[in-house]
Amino acid sequence: MNRQNFLKMTALAGTAFTILPSKVVFGSPNSKLRLGFIGVGLRGQELLRLSLQRSDVIIPAICDVQPVMIADALKQFENSTHPIPQVYTDSDFSYRDLLVREDIDAVIIATPWEWHYSMALETMEAGKHVGCEVIMGTTVNEHWDIVRKSESTGKQYMMLENVCYRRDVMAILQIIRQGVFGELIHLQGGYQHDLREVKFNDGNQPYGGGVEFGEKGFSEARWRTQHSVNRNGDLYPTHGIGPLSKMLDIHSGNRFTSLVSMASKARGLHEYIVKKGGINHPNAKVNFKLGDMVTTMISTENGETILLQHDTSLPRPYSLGFRVQGTKGLWMDINKSIHIEDVTNAHRWEEAKEWISQFDHPLWKKYSSAAEGAGHGGMDFFVVNAFIEAIKRNEPTPISVYDSAAWSVITPLSEASVANGFTNVPFPDFTDGKWKTGKQYFALDDQY
Ligand SMILES: NC(=O)c1ccc[n+]([C@@H]2O[C@H](COP(=O)([O-])OP(=O)(O)OC[C@H]3O[C@@H](n4cnc5c(N)ncnc54)[C@H](O)[C@@H]3O)[C@@H](O)[C@H]2O)c1
Repeated sequence: MNRQNFLKMTALAGTAFTILPSKVVFGSPNSKLRLGFIGVGLRGQELLRLSLQRSDVIIPAICDVQPVMIADALKQFENSTHPIPQVYTDSDFSYRDLLVREDIDAVIIATPWEWHYSMALETMEAGKHVGCEVIMGTTVNEHWDIVRKSESTGKQYMMLENVCYRRDVMAILQIIRQGVFGELIHLQGGYQHDLREVKFNDGNQPYGGGVEFGEKGFSEARWRTQHSVNRNGDLYPTHGIGPLSKMLDIHSGNRFTSLVSMASKARGLHEYIVKKGGINHPNAKVNFKLGDMVTTMISTENGETILLQHDTSLPRPYSLGFRVQGTKGLWMDINKSIHIEDVTNAHRWEEAKEWISQFDHPLWKKYSSAAEGAGHGGMDFFVVNAFIEAIKRNEPTPISVYDSAAWSVITPLSEASVANGFTNVPFPDFTDGKWKTGKQYFALDDQY
């Protein structure tokens, strides 16, 4: 069923519940969306670049506190057909001047994690929708505040979780929706990415991998490393849980119920500093709290189990480590293989390649050339497209405020579990029970 028919049927059914803040009315695909940007660092610049390629977007204003980032962002405007925007840059709170503008409908936030909560909250208070980079907030209460603010203002909040749109992940979603894996039983994913070089960058060699962070660092090294000093838990759960959540129909008849996290000892970041900077480097004295391997298990209302791994401080090639297993078969991304009972060989892995192309999602079929060159293998195009298309039509964003909160709250829950000796922590139900009848809006057709 396509999205329009689906929406019509939902409206006609009357009793069906739509998980969507109130006051949203359905608008036109031909409208133009007026977007503001807060944070035009490396990630914000990619989101900006994709937005500037569109003719349905107007960008009246941008904000960042670093002149180098503003300069790079302005170059993008110069090389586009879009007029140069107003720049807000004077202080950490200049974003408030952007928020009072009446010519902005929605704001994209791509700042350090610790800023997301207040910026998103104030954006909705100012009557604007939010597209926010991963993560929502740092405490459980901050997640509740964002959900309640979205409900009370009727403004949508979408986490810009791009991995939901990865080509193979979307093909696997199609395979699941067609019942090929049978009933889902167990899913795995995570963030398994050696960030040591990303975290420790010398200003002089932005990608060279030094040992400095904070004031002396560049981009994420300026702020992300400090989280590894202060916190211990799954600090980056959404790339893994986002796609898995859509496969499990979380908030459309299913929900996360509880979580347990375990953290290993912390060695990787210290060893890296010693290796690169020597034992006498001042940062060799830093005591990192973040365990090198944080493993989280999540239970769901419908009886599936999920395993997430956060592994960013040890040498390893990148992989999100997806595994999707049901009563009739499974897919694993690490060996790019699939097994379907009575279809593929019972004792040998079959390459997933042909299956992935056979079940290519209609969105990818339609937009693969538009997505070419977009970040992270093209998936960044889709997440930006989804946010813009949904907001300009006044339709529900395919990743709701409830999805965003449930994915992101894994971090503070996992920190609590680790701090309390790896104990079981119940999941908050941000939907107040509405997950039972909530409708799925993610990737239903080839629109967004
Ligand atoms: N989805 C993805 O694949 C992906 C990839 C990279 C980063 N991210 C996320 O994007 C966000 C930004 O990461 P990044 O790599 O661009 O980091 P970055 O450090 O390059 O960019 C952050 C920008 O925010 C600006 N900033 C900081 N405080 C500000 C304030 N008070 N007002 C205005 N601007 C402020 C900084 O000057 C900087 O330019 C993070 O949440 C990160 O996790 C997501």
